[in-house]
Amino acid sequence: MNYLQETENYIISKAVTPEADTRGLLVYSQELKNGDCCLPCFKLSKAMRLSPVAIADKIKETMTDLPDFIDRVESVSGYLNFYFNREAMAKQVLDNVLSRGEKFAPYAQNGKTVCLDYSSINIAKPFHVGHLLTTVIGGSLYRIYKFLGYNAVGINHLGDWGTQFGKLLTAYFKWGDGEQTMDSLLDLYVRFHKEAEKDDSLNDEARMWFKKIEMGDELATSVFENFKRITLAEVGKVYDRLGIVFDSYNGESFYNDKLQDVVDELKAKNLLCESEGAMVVPLDEYGMPPCLILKSDGASLYATRDLACAKYRKQTYDFDKNLYVVAYQQNLHFKQVFKVLELMGYEWASDCVHVPFGMVSLEGVGALSTRNGNVVKLIDVIETAVEKTKAIIAEKNPDLENADETAEAIGVGAVVFGALSNGRIKDMVFSFDKALNFDGETGPYLQYTHARCCSVLSKAQPSGEADCKELIDDDTFTLIRQLNAFDDTVRSAAEKYEPSILTRYLIDLAQAFNKFYIGHRIISDDAAAMNARLTITKAVKNTLKNGMELILLKAPEKM
Ligand code: ARG
Repeated sequence: MNYLQETENYIISKAVTPEADTRGLLVYSQELKNGDCCLPCFKLSKAMRLSPVAIADKIKETMTDLPDFIDRVESVSGYLNFYFNREAMAKQVLDNVLSRGEKFAPYAQNGKTVCLDYSSINIAKPFHVGHLLTTVIGGSLYRIYKFLGYNAVGINHLGDWGTQFGKLLTAYFKWGDGEQTMDSLLDLYVRFHKEAEKDDSLNDEARMWFKKIEMGDELATSVFENFKRITLAEVGKVYDRLGIVFDSYNGESFYNDKLQDVVDELKAKNLLCESEGAMVVPLDEYGMPPCLILKSDGASLYATRDLACAKYRKQTYDFDKNLYVVAYQQNLHFKQVFKVLELMGYEWASDCVHVPFGMVSLEGVGALSTRNGNVVKLIDVIETAVEKTKAIIAEKNPDLENADETAEAIGVGAVVFGALSNGRIKDMVFSFDKALNFDGETGPYLQYTHARCCSVLSKAQPSGEADCKELIDDDTFTLIRQLNAFDDTVRSAAEKYEPSILTRYLIDLAQAFNKFYIGHRIISDDAAAMNARLTITKAVKNTLKNGMELILLKAPEKM
């Protein structure tokens, strides 16, 4: 039940302030001593021509018939504080959580479709830490939307088009021998740039090879397709370990045969202008540089493909939202593309959203670039985290069964959580020590708390209805309130495209549980207290596990 909404409904039913609107003012209290939720009366002051204190007093006077879930109301310094009936709320919340079972079923389908463009890697380029955020933010949002009943479509918009592939083919035919790997492809790419500085004819050759790819030349295509396979196989290993899936790998080249239509349409709609030989959509009216559609040699651009792609997604999926989880460096690109779609007359342009995020660097490692081959690969970050976790387990819990599997879950979880907890738009510096701190605000801490719940429950299980009188002290009730906030939190993470809202929530839940755990004996001679505490432990365990799944974390039972 939505306690905030119900309380608001009650306040509205009193209609004590015909002059002023109380809607939207009620908030959950930060501290329990100020009640469970409170209505700050300051904003009503002007319309009601009374002091906030007098308003709070006045409203309170009318509240003589409180609904069952509210115990009492207090007027304090311009706030109206509502105290819920703890026992009733504990019962309702626990019944609700436990009725969902161990694995919470997703919401009923809401008939809405969300396209999510994430990870969107470039062929033959290393999958480096810079891809971590798009991959895990997108992957987490994908799970969150599915859970909320959306039809989610995960799309890896492959970077598989562009003159750089002419360069790669040139390098391959000159210096590559035999089966290639991601590393050898990177070497080829780096070597091309070095050699082309001395020998400009290599650039002509590269143009020739790219032309061949464009024309569908058999040799060029088959070599290029092979590079694609190699890349996807390599990246696929990382996706598997992170639990990332896609419904479509339609990338830039997929739109080759759909570009002419876009160009024709832009022409027909009088949006296209010539500028220094190139074709552009001018956007100065909107404070932006022109959107480049065709280069002077007639070649299409990144934006041209994104226009075709957006139209295709609308036609194919009829999305309600079309999200692009792409670094903030591309802010302008997406603003331009969305504006052009709007100018083309597509009212769904406003359903397209760029979900930007900041940059990642590793503590102790400098700037990253592909050109000179100096990159930190994501797989190495994951592997390092898993190795470090193995060492921690060997020290802390040498007898743990499935130590390798557990180390994988914790190591990967540490990296993923580190990335997701950062708050999308902030640049982040990833530190292994911080991410692997079992006591910090980390993935391992959540996993550890979950395992702690499992360990308690392996000693005894709740039996029958909990006596909720046992659950009304501050620490325990804080946990009840936190359990109750799960669904609102998931919805808000989806609304704001911000998995860190969920990571924060789960840390708060884990911390509240640990405080409860330290302050209360769960297994004891007091049968009623024990049963009630086991019940809440089970509810916490299930909520943690389901929440962790939405942020891509595995929840081992022992660690
Ligand atoms: N491959 C691009 C890059 O690495 C990201 C593509 C994002 N998606 C899109 N539809 N433009 O920068």
